[in-house]
Amino acid sequence: MPTIPTELQVRRARDADLPEMARIHHASFPSISMTLEERISYFRNDPRLPLEDHWVCERKGRLVGGFALYNFRMQRGRTPVPVGGIGMVAVAPEARRQRIAYWMMLRAVQIMDQNNIPVSSLYPFSHGFYRNLGWGVIGKTNQYRFPPGTLPAHPDRTQVEPVRTYDDQTAVMACYEKFAAEMNGLLLREEPVWFERIFKSQLCYAYKNSKNETEGYLVFQYRPLPAHEHLTAVDLKVNDFVWLTDAALKGLIGFLAAQSDQARAVILCDQTELPLEHIVSDPTMAGGRNNWDFGAETTWTGSGLMGRIVNLRKTLSTSRLGPGSGRVTFQLKDELNPLNQEPLTVDFEAGKAMFPKGATGGVLWKCDVAVMSSIWWGALKLADAKHLGLVELEGEGDLTFLGKLFSLPKPICYDYF
Ligand SMILES: CC(C)(COP(=O)(O)OP(=O)(O)OC[C@H]1O[C@@H](n2cnc3c(N)ncnc32)[C@H](O)[C@@H]1OP(=O)(O)O)[C@@H](O)C(=O)NCCC(=O)NCCS
Repeated sequence: MPTIPTELQVRRARDADLPEMARIHHASFPSISMTLEERISYFRNDPRLPLEDHWVCERKGRLVGGFALYNFRMQRGRTPVPVGGIGMVAVAPEARRQRIAYWMMLRAVQIMDQNNIPVSSLYPFSHGFYRNLGWGVIGKTNQYRFPPGTLPAHPDRTQVEPVRTYDDQTAVMACYEKFAAEMNGLLLREEPVWFERIFKSQLCYAYKNSKNETEGYLVFQYRPLPAHEHLTAVDLKVNDFVWLTDAALKGLIGFLAAQSDQARAVILCDQTELPLEHIVSDPTMAGGRNNWDFGAETTWTGSGLMGRIVNLRKTLSTSRLGPGSGRVTFQLKDELNPLNQEPLTVDFEAGKAMFPKGATGGVLWKCDVAVMSSIWWGALKLADAKHLGLVELEGEGDLTFLGKLFSLPKPICYDYF
């Protein structure tokens, strides 16, 4: 098992670190247009992350890197699960390609395990890098780019209104919570997060039914085209797309359709596998090709978020599982957490995992922790993992209960970090 070199110390950030943290952040994320002062203020005032949840890596008295460890909670199968969100992984330019990021991620896994955070997620700079460290792909996005005029102009759009008052905002927050309970993977948001990251900086419009109840909403931003191309034209990028009823879905789509005189394209990243190509008058996306291979080029598909089981035993005991019953012995490969490498025998019964002392046997399930993570999240079906040679199963009898244990809708996430 790897051990962090003694010359490196990974510790919580403190006030005196801020100037160096800002320097490393600036060098690592230059496209974020903030001065060094603004970066320091951001570290101090981020509603999702107190300064002490930033971690820094020190070598011989100098900071060489840092990362953020968010304490998120995710809705999974109607149960909130603590998630360690990793973000802002940054290494000083003078210290790159010396495994600083590697050691920081090892330390992050140790910290999460010590704090009983069973799973972790992150947006990778390189999927391969994090794959080797045990994070598996859990996010899949179809990015639609509709010319708004190709969307149906549902009359229900007249019930979509701007969210202006605190009551409206409260209704939107409640709507998201209900939606999250039905979906898999959405992060729960505290009120300050809503205000700082959504209501203050983005546009929010809600669909209300005849009783004035909020049944859906959209959060979006305009991406203006360069002024020399057009004076007012924009692309409209939808960030939250939330609907509880069919009427709300239609109303919100009608609202987007009505933006056709200003918006060149509605950019909508769908993760729910809603087949939106069936409602447009032409499924060719804005700027899309028509050719033999595609027919109409409808979406771009991406693999985004990655997830990791920090501790398999804690993950199985804190999460609700499907209705499969039977005994399984897991044998995972995990370079960073030795506890996950020890064979773990589990009796599953009616959605619960039990860990009989000293037991062995049952189906033998062998895979890498990254693959196990994708399966637990509901992003990869066990049957597909088996076909693709990612999981080995050894055992007799009917193994269909295994697939049922981890059968969940595909995970989605609307938050970036
Ligand atoms: C991305 C970033 C964090 C990587 O940090 P780092 O400390 O240089 O990363 P590491 O040294 O641990 O690993 C980087 C690669 O160098 C390789 N490497 C490290 N030390 C090496 C050495 N001595 N010889 C050869 N290769 C080496 C690693 O194996 C790894 O390769 P891989 O991607 O093929 O696995 C850093 O480049 C950075 O801050 N970039 C800008 C911000 C960014 O993209 N952040 C990530 C957001 S998720």
